[in-house]
Amino acid sequence: MSARLDAAGVGWDVAGARILASVAFAAAPGETVGLLGPNGSGKSSLLRLLGGLARPSAGQVSLDSVALSALPRRALARRIAVVTQQTATDVEMTALEVVLLGRIPYRPRLAGVAATDLSMARRALASAGLDGFADRRWSTLSGGERQRVDLARAFVQEPDLLLLDEPTNHLDIRHQLDLLRTLAASPTTVVVTLHDLNLAADWCDRLVLLCGGRVVAAGTPAAVLTAERILEVYDVPVDIDAGPDGRPRIRYRR
Ligand SMILES: Nc1ncnc2c1ncn2[C@@H]1O[C@H](COP(=O)(O)OP(=O)(O)O)[C@@H](O)[C@H]1O
Ligand SMILES: [Mg+2]
Repeated sequence: MSARLDAAGVGWDVAGARILASVAFAAAPGETVGLLGPNGSGKSSLLRLLGGLARPSAGQVSLDSVALSALPRRALARRIAVVTQQTATDVEMTALEVVLLGRIPYRPRLAGVAATDLSMARRALASAGLDGFADRRWSTLSGGERQRVDLARAFVQEPDLLLLDEPTNHLDIRHQLDLLRTLAASPTTVVVTLHDLNLAADWCDRLVLLCGGRVVAAGTPAAVLTAERILEVYDVPVDIDAGPDGRPRIRYRR
């Protein structure tokens, strides 16, 4: 259902360039952690390391205290679902077939699609507001529809850890809120990269702010999102009020 995630001293070098350095943070079981930072700060790279899609050059990522590198691939595929920005999906697949990809780690080798997998996938499409889209070709879907199909694929995987890279970028405001509400209520541990600081403040339990491949702040939304830090990291002057729920409200100046 949910797992504890730990990143300790994580570094990642590509072609002699240091992309991430000494990244350390933890997500408790069931927590929703928002990963923030300017373009190029290393959010997508970190998410790939957390999902075991790439290996760190230094340090370690572990799930319930077991290093990802020690987990068999199939276990990893069941326990961690990743929704990246560039979905490398075969354009000839239908929406239902894409969602069914999430069930592959549960299928005995050489077995076909089970009836339970099918009904699960149909339910997931329906709760993504995509009733009637089952037979639609991926190539005919809008950006937001693709994003919701891919999220449905991640949900039917029933992961312990859900990693999402800018899952709201193509969604209208209603679907953004639907998704964040679902993530906040879900028992699964979630790490989600977001650009909208107010959405992050409203829906995440904790935030991790990256800049230049390093963690510059981590903690509650109120602790991380201060006007000084936003100016320093994003070079944007803001005013911050505390909402009635104690969560910060960021106002951008004209
Ligand atoms: N495979 C790669 N080879 C070279 N540079 C990379 C590679 N992946 C990412 N980078 C660089 O690492 C930095 C962080 O990228 P990324 O993790 O995508 O940032 P973010 O998601 O925060 O925008 C960027 O400067 C990017 O150009
Ligand atoms: Mg990115």
